[in-house]
Amino acid sequence: MCGIAGYLGTRSASPILLDCLKQLEYRGYDSAGVGLQLADGIQITRSVDRLSGLEAKLGRLNGQGSAARVGIGHTRWATHGRPSELNAHPQSSLDGKVVVVHNGIFENFLELRAELSAYGLSPISQTDTECFPLLVSMLMREGMDFGQAFAAAVRRMRGNYSVLCLHAEHPDRMLLARSGPTLGVGFGVGEYFVASDAAPLLPHTREVAFLEDGDVAELNLDGLTVLDRNAAVVERASVHIDWELGAVELNGYRHFMHKEIFEQPEALARTLEAHLDGDVVALGLSELEGSFRDLEHIAIVACGTSWHAGLVGKFLIEQLARVPVDVDYASEFRYRSPIVSNRTLALAITQSGETADTIAALRDAKQCGARTLAICNVVGAQIARLAEATLFTRAGPEIGVASTKAFTTELALLALLALHIGRVRGTMTAELGAELVRGLRALPAQIEHVHGLEDAIEQLAGARQATTNALYLGRGSLYPIALEGALKLKEISYIHAEGYPAGELEHGPMALIDPALQVVALMPRDEHRERTLSNLKQAAARGAKIVAFVSEGERGLDGVAEAILELPLTHPSLAPILYAVPLQLFAYHVARLRGCDVDRPRNLAKSVTVE
Ligand code: F6R
Repeated sequence: MCGIAGYLGTRSASPILLDCLKQLEYRGYDSAGVGLQLADGIQITRSVDRLSGLEAKLGRLNGQGSAARVGIGHTRWATHGRPSELNAHPQSSLDGKVVVVHNGIFENFLELRAELSAYGLSPISQTDTECFPLLVSMLMREGMDFGQAFAAAVRRMRGNYSVLCLHAEHPDRMLLARSGPTLGVGFGVGEYFVASDAAPLLPHTREVAFLEDGDVAELNLDGLTVLDRNAAVVERASVHIDWELGAVELNGYRHFMHKEIFEQPEALARTLEAHLDGDVVALGLSELEGSFRDLEHIAIVACGTSWHAGLVGKFLIEQLARVPVDVDYASEFRYRSPIVSNRTLALAITQSGETADTIAALRDAKQCGARTLAICNVVGAQIARLAEATLFTRAGPEIGVASTKAFTTELALLALLALHIGRVRGTMTAELGAELVRGLRALPAQIEHVHGLEDAIEQLAGARQATTNALYLGRGSLYPIALEGALKLKEISYIHAEGYPAGELEHGPMALIDPALQVVALMPRDEHRERTLSNLKQAAARGAKIVAFVSEGERGLDGVAEAILELPLTHPSLAPILYAVPLQLFAYHVARLRGCDVDRPRNLAKSVTVE
């Protein structure tokens, strides 16, 4: 996903923009650029290299750009037009005066290109973005001033986008607009920072205001002025971001994914701390509270790892709150005319809060009358504007493309939500509630215990790094964890992996068993243990090579599995949280040993902001 950066102040903009872009690298990009406001115009530098390439180019330009006190920057994930210097951002008007960086898509760009060409302003790149500076320049030729032309151009654009715009003849102004992707403005002392998420702003300030959809804004040294979609001046209050600074640095770890796996005890503890008051679940859902008792149905929408969290959520909510739950891929929900009423709670789960399909699915459900709730990790994200209420995981910024700590904290919040709705509806006993809260509170220490198994997991990974196929098996709420384990392995190590309910083995996958297939089994001590054991014995009898993750003291798989790792005993409903962790570590070490780029797997972006 593209990343936007902006600086306006009294220091040299170029190094600040580069640092900011580095913090946005994790979102995935194939080219990058900056535009620096200088006395003789705006200097644009673009590169299809990593950021180091852009940095070197800027340096090669003899530090001339260092005089700039205002600038914009961008990391581009190509959608319209291949990755190239010509298509990288900033894009500019033909005279180079209007300069723009852009996230998202201008859906009507073809129509605009034709109109601009007819006017004599033919675009030279293949991007949708270029229409914007060309249109601003056309409107200025027609007599509008910069601000008017920018606002009018924003009104012409259709789609989901955010933009930053400079004009060479208005060196102290930066214009901004948001209609979709997050745009945050950080307030320093006499200086302002802009970015597509809060993390890059943290080294400079913790006070960040997020534009709302439809906002058009201006930044200058006097401050930020925002007009809403009705052109009324509005205040966008800043929020205090309490993420730790070190959260966006490697701090001695080789990869962010590794660091984030190890941050899980703290992330979980923070998430629980924020939503538990002693034994009482305190979610602060006053907007929705009245609807829980009469709920008929919960519709969970999500993608990828967050969808797996939703599958676990279904088990928890149906067990504790006795409300039927559907879990849909957001991309499917949108196109299957789901049955939704005003007694439906639509629950979107999304780490980034920016996933296009998840946002659209929640919007559709809302339009059909559903009440709406989101679980999200990123303050200021789009989804929080759409949902009636949002529960924030407190995982801190997740930089590795493969989701880890966001997943386990999503699971913790789902457990708390299930407990809360169950208590409101009177569908579970006080004892069970108290037991689960105790179980949740024990998890951070239990996950630390699992971290202690890293050497053994690394050895397992070492012996299996040449595997080409893997089958992950689990039953009940461990089945979604089998799916998640398989996703982790495939996305970062490129090994083909599938997750299956263990009970489905004989309905097809058993045919795959041969010495080249690695079976990974999840068998905590729960109501499914005997049945899973019997499935695994049958697989072993046909020559399956099994690695098993089991509860402490489990002996049933001795002689059946070739490797067995014992995990602490937890409440069966919470086992998914614990069992996710060794699978993350296993995938991490396999990928690392295979020499894969763990934090930036090929072809994947951290947030998927297009359908
Ligand atoms: C996998 C992964 C993705 C995301 C998915 C949804 O490790 O990270 O599958 O889970 O793209 O992203 P969010 O949760 O941001 O909506």
